[in-house]
Amino acid sequence: MPVFEAPAWVKERDAEIREILSRYPDSRSALMPLLHLAQEERGYISQEDIEAVAGILNLTPAYVESVCSFYSLYHRHPVGKYVLLVCNNVSCALRGSGRIAELLKQKLGVESGGTTPDGLITLEVTHECLANCDAAPVLTVNGEYVVKLDEKKIDGLLADLRAGRGPDAWIERRPETGYFAEPEAAPPGYWGKPGRAEAEVAAAGEGEPAREGGAGEGQA
Ligand code: FES
Repeated sequence: MPVFEAPAWVKERDAEIREILSRYPDSRSALMPLLHLAQEERGYISQEDIEAVAGILNLTPAYVESVCSFYSLYHRHPVGKYVLLVCNNVSCALRGSGRIAELLKQKLGVESGGTTPDGLITLEVTHECLANCDAAPVLTVNGEYVVKLDEKKIDGLLADLRAGRGPDAWIERRPETGYFAEPEAAPPGYWGKPGRAEAEVAAAGEGEPAREGGAGEGQA
């Protein structure tokens, strides 16, 4: 019988694991945070990660696998540097997410679940609501929102990712003060003032945003 060897992160991140466990009276509640931690290590959750998390929480690997496969934010296979998760739930579908998904498939040359040959971008289309229906249609790039999608935004985002500038110019973050924050108190972005990317698209009319000294520059 093969001897199971725990992945390195179990030892290296022992303090974080203990801190996560200390948050919950029932250790099973730590399952999802531990899966996120495992995923941070290599971008997806391997079989050895499943077994390690099961061992930490005294659960069966089958139980951990069932939770892992239920949620679309956990990846069970290697993914690209950037994971584009396109919401295709009701609000986004009503606002054209089907077309957005098709455009992305065409422009990237992959189907949902596929990764571009250069390993840069993985596309996933999900029927799970990404919890930003008011700004539909939306996608996330490695967990951060790009909202009110249209073809220009998609082209701008893909151009930035391919050029190594990263997604920052297109990301919209909700104000930390909460959804109902006064607009003056909110940082620039969809939920406050117009964000840089939106303002530039509006000003430019057509084509990509100008990038002099921009926030997205210098991204790896
Ligand atoms: S339906 Fe897309 S964010 Fe809710």
